[in-house]
Amino acid sequence: MTNYTFADLVGDEKVFFAEYFNKKPLLRKGALKDPKGVLSLRRLDELVQLEIIRPPYLRVNLKGQGVPEKGYTKTVTVQGTDVTDTVDAQKVYELFRAGATIVWSSLNHVDSSLRRFTQVISDKFGARTDCVAFLTPAGKQGFSPHHDPVDLFIVQTEGTKRWRLWNPPQVRRAQAASYTAEQLGEPVIDVLLEPGDVLYLPYDTPHAAAAEELASVHLSIMIRPRMWKDLLRQTFDELAAAPEFNEFPYIGESRDNSVEEVFKEKVRALMTRFETVEPAAELDRLADLGRRMPGNSMGSTFQTTAELDALDAGSALRLTDVDVEFGANQDGRVQVTVNGHKVAIPAPVAETLAGMSAGDHIIASDVFPGAEPARAARTAQGLARLGLLEVVAA
Ligand SMILES: [Fe+2]
Repeated sequence: MTNYTFADLVGDEKVFFAEYFNKKPLLRKGALKDPKGVLSLRRLDELVQLEIIRPPYLRVNLKGQGVPEKGYTKTVTVQGTDVTDTVDAQKVYELFRAGATIVWSSLNHVDSSLRRFTQVISDKFGARTDCVAFLTPAGKQGFSPHHDPVDLFIVQTEGTKRWRLWNPPQVRRAQAASYTAEQLGEPVIDVLLEPGDVLYLPYDTPHAAAAEELASVHLSIMIRPRMWKDLLRQTFDELAAAPEFNEFPYIGESRDNSVEEVFKEKVRALMTRFETVEPAAELDRLADLGRRMPGNSMGSTFQTTAELDALDAGSALRLTDVDVEFGANQDGRVQVTVNGHKVAIPAPVAETLAGMSAGDHIIASDVFPGAEPARAARTAQGLARLGLLEVVAA
C-alpha cells in the first residue's frame, strides 16, 4: 500500500485544525490515489477465509439486525483444541448475497498495512484509533441518521455510497444518538462517495449512509476523543502514584477526627503537585500515551535481531541518533555512556564513532581501525546491541 500522510487525508493541516477539527465535517474528493491498495474486495475475500479472524472481529448485519454468530461460524479443531467460532466463509457469502452487510472491526489489529494507515492518524491526534471495514451489497440501506461519540474518517475504497451529513449540535454528548428527518433539516454535505474520497466527521456529527448500485467497501477510522476530563484523569493517576498517597486510612463510621485533617493535607499535597506540572512535557507525555494504545504497536525485533546475528565484516551499518557521551582516553580505552549504560571501548573505535554524525554509514570492518576484520565485526555487533549502530537493510 502507498504510505499516505495525514495531509493526504485532510489537505492543508493548518486549515484542517483551524476550521474543521472538532467543528464541522470535511469532504475531500479524490484524496487517495490508490484506494484499492488501502482495502479491496479481493482483500476482503482473503480476510473472510482467514479462519482466525472470527467474531467479534467479524460481524454480519442483515435487515438492521446483527446475525447471531452461529449463523456464520463453525467448529474447527486446531492441534486437538476445538475453536467453536471459526468463520464459515460459505455462510458469510450466502448472507452477503441475501443482502447482509459484513463488518470487520479493529482491522488495524490484524492487518499491518492498515495499522500503518491508522498510525498516521494516531500520531497526529495522540489518541487511540480503530479501523472498521464495511462491505455493503448493492442497493442496500446502510444506517439511518445517527451520531457516534467518536471522531471519524470515512475512506471509500470500492463502489459508491451516498452520505448525508449535518453539523454537530451545539451541546455535544458523550453517547451515540439517532435522529428523525424533522430534527435534522437539510444536510450540509450530500455526496456520492467514490473510491479515493475521504470524509472527516467530528464526534456527534449526524450522518446517514446508503449504498448505491455497486457493492461498497469503506473504512471507518474511529478516533476516541480524549476530552479534558480523560487527560486530567491520566495526569492525576500519575501524580497520585506518589508514595505519600499509599497509606490505607480507616474512614468507617467510628473513624478518628484527625483523619479529616489528614484528608485535607492530602488534597493540598495533590494540588501542589498539580500546580508544579510542566504543561509542555505533560502534554507530550499524554500524547505519547495516546499513540501507544492497543492496535498501534510497531516494531521489527525478530527481523533486527536476526540481522544482528548475521552481521559480518562486510555488513553496512548506520550510526543511530541515540545520545552518546565520550569520556577521556585511559590506557587506550575510552568510557562511553549510551542510554545510561557505561562501557569501555578501544580508543580507535571511540575516535571513529566520534567522527561520525547520526545517520552516517560505515562498513563493520572499518569500525575498529587496525584490528582484524573479524574482531572489528564483533565490536560492531556489540555497539549495535547497545543501540549505537544499526544494520542497514540490504
Ligand atoms: Fe455511524
